[in-house]
Amino acid sequence: MGIIMDGKKIAEGIRAKLAEEIRKIEAEKAVKPTLATIIVEGDPSSAAYVKNKEKVCIQTGLGSVTYNLPMNTKEEDLIRLIEELNIRKDIHGILVQVPLPKHINENKIASIIDYRKDVDCFNPENAGRLFRGEKCLLPCTPKGIIRLIKAYGIEISGKKAAVVGRSNIVGKPCAMMLLNNNATVTICHSKTFNLKSQLLECDIIVSAVGKPGLITADMVKEGAVVIDAGTTMVDGKLKGDVDFEKVLEKASYITPVPGGVGAMTTTMLIENVLEAFNNYE
Ligand code: GUN
Repeated sequence: MGIIMDGKKIAEGIRAKLAEEIRKIEAEKAVKPTLATIIVEGDPSSAAYVKNKEKVCIQTGLGSVTYNLPMNTKEEDLIRLIEELNIRKDIHGILVQVPLPKHINENKIASIIDYRKDVDCFNPENAGRLFRGEKCLLPCTPKGIIRLIKAYGIEISGKKAAVVGRSNIVGKPCAMMLLNNNATVTICHSKTFNLKSQLLECDIIVSAVGKPGLITADMVKEGAVVIDAGTTMVDGKLKGDVDFEKVLEKASYITPVPGGVGAMTTTMLIENVLEAFNNYE
């Protein structure tokens, strides 16, 4: 029977420290580290994610400005807004919620965000630094995953790790961060032949696909660490990728959904805004 990793509790502890740091900055410098979030209408779950991020930012004392843009926003208008936020002294972090509508090129938008304010690691400058193992603003979900693993004293170095999912926002950067922590990493995806045989070899499994029930107990080695970064709404309930109850029996550590990776993600966002603020000052 595995240990359930309490992402909510770990995140609360980190947030308390961040809130203290934010209070100090405000008292000493009379400025509030501030995140600007841009959301272009069109994706139903994005609005809920952004509301939650706003709530957590405000609770921690961070400034938060949200730009709600209509679905027919032109790419050039979005670029103009980002360029304006890039040079504003009162904005320290910029987050563009994805997915964007089809007529807007996400790669182009990512390259416009000033890399020093790029709290999601979308800009190729940050993605390249991450690839090379150099210091940069790290993407929030993978950063939260690594932090959670370390918070439980789990050694990453020398372990065999599998990341299931190859998105630019979670899967790929997570694989890179595990590699930077000296794991031997396999990246699995929809075209992987025999996922089960790949996963059975691994000491650490991170799943970031968005397919409830994808990771079953027969795919998991006895004593493995299982991190579930999947988020799918099923009948109004948030579901991960892992068959939690059954995998719990085999894993040494496992994250629940909700209450695992999600809380860490928003907390890492706040940490990144502070980091961006401190880098800029
Ligand atoms: N859409 C879903 N998750 C995220 C995230 O972490 N950041 C951004 N910018 N968009 C998202």
